[in-house]
Amino acid sequence: MVVRKVGAAWEVFAPAKLNLYLDILGRRDDGFHELETLMAPIRVYDRLQWREAVGGDRSPFSLNFDQAASAAGCEAAPLDGRNLVWRAAELLAGDAGREPTGRFSLLKRIPAQAGLGGGSSDAAATLLLANAAWGLHYPQSRLMQLAAELGSDVPFFLAGESAVCRGRGEFVEPVGPLPRLDVVVIKPPAGVSTAEAFQALRAAPVDEVRRVHSARRLAELLGRLRLGSLATASRLMTNALESTASALCAWIECACRAVAGMGGYACLMTGSGSACFGVMRSARHARRAAAVLSSRGLGTVFATSTCR
Ligand code: C5P
Repeated sequence: MVVRKVGAAWEVFAPAKLNLYLDILGRRDDGFHELETLMAPIRVYDRLQWREAVGGDRSPFSLNFDQAASAAGCEAAPLDGRNLVWRAAELLAGDAGREPTGRFSLLKRIPAQAGLGGGSSDAAATLLLANAAWGLHYPQSRLMQLAAELGSDVPFFLAGESAVCRGRGEFVEPVGPLPRLDVVVIKPPAGVSTAEAFQALRAAPVDEVRRVHSARRLAELLGRLRLGSLATASRLMTNALESTASALCAWIECACRAVAGMGGYACLMTGSGSACFGVMRSARHARRAAAVLSSRGLGTVFATSTCR
């Protein structure tokens, strides 16, 4: 994510992500789940801007939602302490021993409750934006610690590239550039709450055998991806939350089945759902699939690709 100065404003584009692989290694004593996942950013972005509020640096901070410019289906998120932009700004300001200031403005293009990481990406974007706009000069390592306090996926977005994430998601190991994947994504009309999906999983305690098995499988997937062997790689792309989330949201199975019918390499759910994606043979194939799927009434459909 790159923070830019545009006239009087500071601006950053916050990408969505896809989980190309997700395994749950077990439930931990703190209630979180130990996981191993491969995530890649995709070219779908929220836009976050910051401007100095009228009245100068001492004026209080506010958060606006740009409803007019946001994508259809992206309703206004709560504009208070429940919003991750708000929480990230307050956390960083508190850590720096100052008040949060200025006007943050959020334009949403990433559907919520989708497993696409929109809220987490917005939080990472806020840390980067406020760090620059407030002239804090925090190093990346310190921002990573604050990111982990905000949510399990936030450190991944701060790192800003394809990565294997472990622990509850906060240990991020970049994997270097992977070949671009052309994908079609469906976000059904109903979403899934991450907390509910994990709760419904009823996972056993962390299993070391599963850890070894997952590490092997993931290494093979990364090897195949780096070789560009998409057909083999796609067979290794799985999401251990998919059946649980599908039981919570019937749309997921419909969406996955529809994507699978488009003749791509792989079709799976991302994160805790409810969005599903297909890895297609080319950008053209992804666009054609999106055009066909858009008319099926399965929700928001778009073609995009992974970056880095
Ligand atoms: O970390 P984040 O706020 O995104 O997590 C939302 C909820 O999802 C947590 O409160 C927890 O219930 C669940 N979760 C989990 N294990 C993880 C990540 C999230 O159980 N690794």
